Parts: sequence; C-alpha cells; structure tokens
Amino acid sequence: MILVTGATGRVGRELVTLLLGGGEDVVAVSRDPAGAALPAAVRVVEGHASRPETVAGALDGAEAIFVVPRAVGDATAELLSLAAARGVRRAVLVSALTVQYGVGERRFRDAFGAAEDAVRAWGLGWTILRAADFDANTLVWAGQIAGTGIVRGAYGDSATSPIHERDIAAVAARALVDPAHDGMTYVLTGPQSLTQRDRVRLIGEVAGREVSWQEMAPEQVRQAMLAQGLPEEAPARLLGYLSAYVERPGPSSHAVEQVLGRPALTFAEWVADNAAAFRP
Ligand SMILES: NC(=O)c1ccc[n+]([C@@H]2O[C@H](COP(=O)([O-])OP(=O)(O)OC[C@H]3O[C@@H](n4cnc5c(N)ncnc54)[C@H](OP(=O)(O)O)[C@@H]3O)[C@@H](O)[C@H]2O)c1
Repeated sequence: MILVTGATGRVGRELVTLLLGGGEDVVAVSRDPAGAALPAAVRVVEGHASRPETVAGALDGAEAIFVVPRAVGDATAELLSLAAARGVRRAVLVSALTVQYGVGERRFRDAFGAAEDAVRAWGLGWTILRAADFDANTLVWAGQIAGTGIVRGAYGDSATSPIHERDIAAVAARALVDPAHDGMTYVLTGPQSLTQRDRVRLIGEVAGREVSWQEMAPEQVRQAMLAQGLPEEAPARLLGYLSAYVERPGPSSHAVEQVLGRPALTFAEWVADNAAAFRP
C-alpha cells in the first residue's frame, strides 16, 4: 500500500491513477475527502499532512509514502518519523529545481531544501525529484487565451524546460515501488527549452486558435498584479524568476527518459491533454 499526500494536486492525481493502474493499493490524504473527486478504488482519508498526527492511522500497512511539500509544509521530518514507526520503508519527495539551480526566492529554495534534508536524514529508502516548472503553470493564461487570444506579459524570452506533471508522477510511481531508485536525486525537466513566446505559439497551434504574445514592460505587469489585489511580493517573485531565465535559460535533463525508458512528454502533448482550458 502507498500513502499519497497532496493527492488532489496536479502531480498527486496523476500519481494515484498510475499507481492504481499498476495494481497498487492507494490511500490518499485530503483535507476534504468529499470534494477530492479521486477514483473510487482509492481510500481517501481526511487529514492535514502538515499535522502528521491527523494521518497517523492511515500510515498503518503502508510500505511507501509520497511527500508533497505544499501539503506537508514544514512537518516532513515529523511525518517521516511517524511513518517509520508505523512500518513505512520508502519515501519519495517532490522538490524543485530551484534547490540546485539557484533561481527564484531564497525562502522557496530554503523550504524545499529543508524538506530534502528531512528526507535524506530519515535513514530509510528515499528518492528526491527536483522538478522544473510544471506545464500546468501556463493555465494562468487560460482566461486571456480563451477570452482574447492575447497573452500579455513581461520577459517573453524567458526560457525553461517545463515538465508534464504526468512525467513527475510516472517517475514517482517507479520510485515508490522499486528500491533501485533509493538514494537517488533526479532533476526532472521536459524535453525542450521553451520561451514564454514559444509556449503561447504552441498553445495556439495545438488548440487550433490564433494566439499571440504581447510584450509588456515589467513595471506594467507589476502594476497590473497589484491592481488585482496581489501582495507586493507576488510580482517581485514572478518578475525576478522570469528575468533570471532570460539571462540564463533553465536546464534540460534526460532523467525522465532514463527512468521511464521513453521520451519525456512534450509541452504540445500537455496542451493536447488540456486544450479545453484554452478554448472560449
Ligand atoms: N508548479 C510548479 O512549477 C512546481 C515546480 C516544482 C515543484 N513544485 C511543487 O510540487 C508539489 C506538487 O505540486 P501540485 O501542483 O501537484 O500540488 P498542489 O496542487 O499545489 O497541492 C497539492 C495538494 O496539497 C493540498 N494543499 C494545498 N495547499 C495547502 C495548504 N496551504 N495546506 C495544506 N494542504 C494544502 C491540497 O490538497 P487537499 O485540499 O486535498 O488537502 C492540494 O490539492 C508542490 O509542493 C509544489 O510546491 C511545483
């Protein structure tokens, strides 16, 4: 049996489906089981993974645990200690490229780094997945694309190799059941470096719509975000990250293909899976 935290998230949902397809028993943790909308074969337990005592009972009988920092917060060490005491023998953590690539805000690097430290320190089997930015992050453009076909933003030449969330889940599904991945830290990216302009063009091509990028000055973007009621740190974080990736595009790795034995899914494939989100 495998316990999945963050099971209702982008990666968690894909993982649950893959594990079930592989014949595994899955227990999913959610703060809201009634709204979780997970497959009927999954046992969904109500709990708050950042308060590990709320999921203690669900750990009984689990061999492995999937750890999602958004759901677990700063309780990774406590959760893993409880898990070990209840017989869990393997943990897989979703981390982020920022830990080793140094882009983005220090507090995010520190938070993912602390979760990694806790996983490495727990003394049992572990695998760390340092993920690039998710393809799904482009869903923030869905309203603009569906509405006007124009995406307005700054740093259109900012480039990373975004990853399909299903590939993160597929690597996690392997690592959760196969000790060959114990002690490994994988950098997981998509197969291609893509600028923001490239992504907008690909969404248009795959969704069959005229879609264009409209470059704005960073200050215009900042003012627009503040006008939407976002805190001052939100544009600072976004614009800092985007400008850094203009200077030095994000890395590409081959780890997805090495682990799965097939090429990583492309951004175009992700758009095809999610094309409805970009249609009027
Ligand atoms: N987006 C990226 O580009 C990127 C890149 C690298 C790493 N990551 C990390 O990858 C992990 C997985 O991402 P994801 O998009 O699949 O997950 P997600 O949707 O951000 O979160 C997964 C689940 O965690 C629970 N959750 C969310 N906010 C919470 C909060 N404040 N307190 C407690 N629980 C909360 C929710 O489950 P319930 O409501 O069912 O409890 C949610 O469905 C995250 O930790 C994320 O930080 C993201």
